[in-house]
Amino acid sequence: MSTIVCTFDELAPNSATRFVVNGSPVAVVRLGDDVYAIGDTCSHAEVSLSEGEVWTDEKSLECWKHGSRFDLVTGEPITLPATQPVPVFVARVVNGNVEIDVELAGGVK
Ligand code: FES
Repeated sequence: MSTIVCTFDELAPNSATRFVVNGSPVAVVRLGDDVYAIGDTCSHAEVSLSEGEVWTDEKSLECWKHGSRFDLVTGEPITLPATQPVPVFVARVVNGNVEIDVELAGGVK
């Protein structure tokens, strides 16, 4: 079952926004006309990834604390110090609304 978190227009381009979906913190990223959703808690420490910077070219989100960048498609860390992936969630835009499927999460959490 998917959950509507906001409208697509409410997401700032090329940045991340934190939502809690069914109790899970999720970082929702708008890149161009696409949306991505990964677990919001860095796998290195208890830090909110949505407060970090989006790297548009490599489709990643950088943790502001120590600089690990997480792939928005796979959830895998691209750079150290994090070594474990964060969950990846299905995200889509339907009728202008952003829907997230937390139940269909990939990744490890
Ligand atoms: S807390 Fe995110 S890289 Fe260390």
